[in-house]
Amino acid sequence: MHVLITGGAGFIGSNLVRFLLNKGLEITVVDNFDEFYSPKIKFANIHDFLNCKKFHLINIDMHNLPNTSSVNGKFDMLIHLASKGGVRLSIKQKEIYHEVNVEGTRQVFNYVIKNNIPKVVFASSSSIYGNSKELPWHENISPLQPISPYAFTKLLCEQMGMEYSKKHNFDFISLRFFSVYGPHMRPDLALYSFSEKILNNEPIRLFGDGSSMRDYTYVDDIVEGIYNAILYNKKKTDIFNLGYGKAHSLLEMVNTLEKHLNKKAILEFTNSIKEEADKTWANTEKAKQTLNFIAHTDFDTGVELFCKWFVNKCKN
Ligand SMILES: NC(=O)c1ccc[n+]([C@@H]2O[C@H](COP(=O)([O-])OP(=O)(O)OC[C@H]3O[C@@H](n4cnc5c(N)ncnc54)[C@H](O)[C@@H]3O)[C@@H](O)[C@H]2O)c1
Repeated sequence: MHVLITGGAGFIGSNLVRFLLNKGLEITVVDNFDEFYSPKIKFANIHDFLNCKKFHLINIDMHNLPNTSSVNGKFDMLIHLASKGGVRLSIKQKEIYHEVNVEGTRQVFNYVIKNNIPKVVFASSSSIYGNSKELPWHENISPLQPISPYAFTKLLCEQMGMEYSKKHNFDFISLRFFSVYGPHMRPDLALYSFSEKILNNEPIRLFGDGSSMRDYTYVDDIVEGIYNAILYNKKKTDIFNLGYGKAHSLLEMVNTLEKHLNKKAILEFTNSIKEEADKTWANTEKAKQTLNFIAHTDFDTGVELFCKWFVNKCKN
């Protein structure tokens, strides 16, 4: 099987590439190494694969996919991970997020149609549930009311994927990821930036009183969920939550980091951000029953694994 992955040099993408190469699949990555965070980190993420015969890297913007001749091959599937992430920056850069995430995705679908790729797996986000009170969030919640520009782009892409797949006859599976963490994590994400600050004796700024909650999901579990979605063929279009299924407060997260970094954090409290949900919590029943998805890594174990990776990275 030959799989095309957009955004394959990023956090989730590079973990996925490693897993799929180990399964014997051929992988082509399209990534433009954008400046959202250092491209050096992304090059380091994929460094180990560069000598692998079954790995191909194409450094282009996804907007150019339909008009390039550099992406060759007969692909059995496309996994679409490329996007600008992060809720907070999207508040300041609404138009840029729309242009990259929505218009970029439109071009990815145009490429899929032009090249008759039979299936797309899309990286959606728990943020599209907004602040829905129907907790734990299940896939049928309607209407969806995202509260940030980033989340809105993800909802538009899901809707576009459903529409295009029906019209142009390709399978479309949308996976709503819940706060992914683990090795090669994005430096803007809280577990990473908090760890950096704890180790450097710098204060951590907490938005709100520390009671906001997240359903944190270890990246290896997410990668297995994506693999299960690759194999899934019961329906032509479908949506699944990929989360652990348990929510932890911000203060609990900091305490768990302190435990595994063996160091106390210095805390500063500031106002919460209205575009961020108070609590995210995945109902994983559908993914369990239909996709055979089970997240094995509990939060304490996952944070321990992350901290080991992080401390080791800081030493080198
Ligand atoms: N990390 C999470 O907690 C989380 C949660 C929900 C959803 N997601 C989604 O999962 C996907 C992967 O997230 P991640 O955390 O690995 O992010 P990431 O930023 O590490 O990876 C995204 C990759 O896409 C690439 N990219 C960006 N714009 C591009 C463009 N125009 N053309 C080609 N490549 C481009 C980037 O260079 C980067 O390597 C994203 O779609 C994200 O929105 C992530």
